[in-house]
Amino acid sequence: MNHENLNPRTIAVTAGRPSGDGSPINQPIVLASNFRESPDYARTHGTESWKALETAVGSLEGGDCVSFASGMAAASAILFALAPRIVVVPTVSYLGVRKLIELMQSREQVEARAVVITDTASVLRTCRDAATEVGADRVLLWIETPTNPTLDEGDLPALCHGAREIRVATAVDSTFATPMGQRPLEHGATVVMHSGTKFIGGHSDLMIGLTITNDAKVNEALLESRTFVGATPGALESFLALRGLRTLPIRYEASSRNALQLVERLRAHPAVEWAKNVGPMLSFIVKGGAPAADRACDAVRIITHATSLGGVESTMERRQKYAGDAHVDPGLIRMSVGIEDVEDLWADLSTALSS
Ligand SMILES: Cc1ncc(COP(=O)(O)O)c(C=O)c1O
Repeated sequence: MNHENLNPRTIAVTAGRPSGDGSPINQPIVLASNFRESPDYARTHGTESWKALETAVGSLEGGDCVSFASGMAAASAILFALAPRIVVVPTVSYLGVRKLIELMQSREQVEARAVVITDTASVLRTCRDAATEVGADRVLLWIETPTNPTLDEGDLPALCHGAREIRVATAVDSTFATPMGQRPLEHGATVVMHSGTKFIGGHSDLMIGLTITNDAKVNEALLESRTFVGATPGALESFLALRGLRTLPIRYEASSRNALQLVERLRAHPAVEWAKNVGPMLSFIVKGGAPAADRACDAVRIITHATSLGGVESTMERRQKYAGDAHVDPGLIRMSVGIEDVEDLWADLSTALSS
């Protein structure tokens, strides 16, 4: 089926299904490493379970998708595939990706240049300077927007177009936005990645990573990374991620509606200094710093005090407790808003804030 002109709600439900009379409605879980009368091997050639998920995610993002064992496996594959000499990376972004680049830098495999992703002119100037030093094809601009955990929003079209003009490749970590919030390939991004562990899976029950690109050479290099680094997804995980993806549009809409209501109430709450949401992600700063924020996290009963994000259930945690997020405000709580009743969520949150 050609999904090009369909609404994302329709694509999410229809893409990646077996076709033909008598075929099952859902792609069955293929538990096989090898196949009869065939040289095909799962790590090298993929399986129908992986391909069904890849077809659906690729249709939503508008490119070819490769699935991996986790979001970090997808990020590693991008760095392996594009082999940049210099990576321009936001100072505020997911701590795991920054740590990976830092480790690679300590082994002299790459050089990192830190930028503030909301300052488009400065980001592009840094890219241009790096391109002059080592050649544009050895520079990668890593974009994360909205950022984890402060929800800063970079100007995605300007960053992607600007980098493309100077022939610098761009990788966009779109985990927080999902294909419902933004489609970076439409703005000229080289490659998009997701931690499918989060909103795409949607139920906090799996680890999976995804890359999507419409550059055939880059896709080939990403497949090569998966084949030879070997961070392949699991069959059950692929099945569950695709089942989760079917409801991504309605989950994203419901969670975003809840987050909008909560952010308005939080802004008016006397214990809260600052609050912002982008879609279902909500960050707020509690007056009284770390102790007050920790008390609120310990006091919630319906919302779960836990790390990670993107499930049907609301979760929250204070981020500055992690060494990799030491630079964020000590009272900042990052909340992933779920699909529960908003009045129940607010009752829980406002009671916890008064604790
Ligand atoms: C924005 C972002 N990117 C990448 C990752 C890494 O994904 P995974 O945990 O699936 O390896 C995470 C995980 O929290 C994330 O929040």
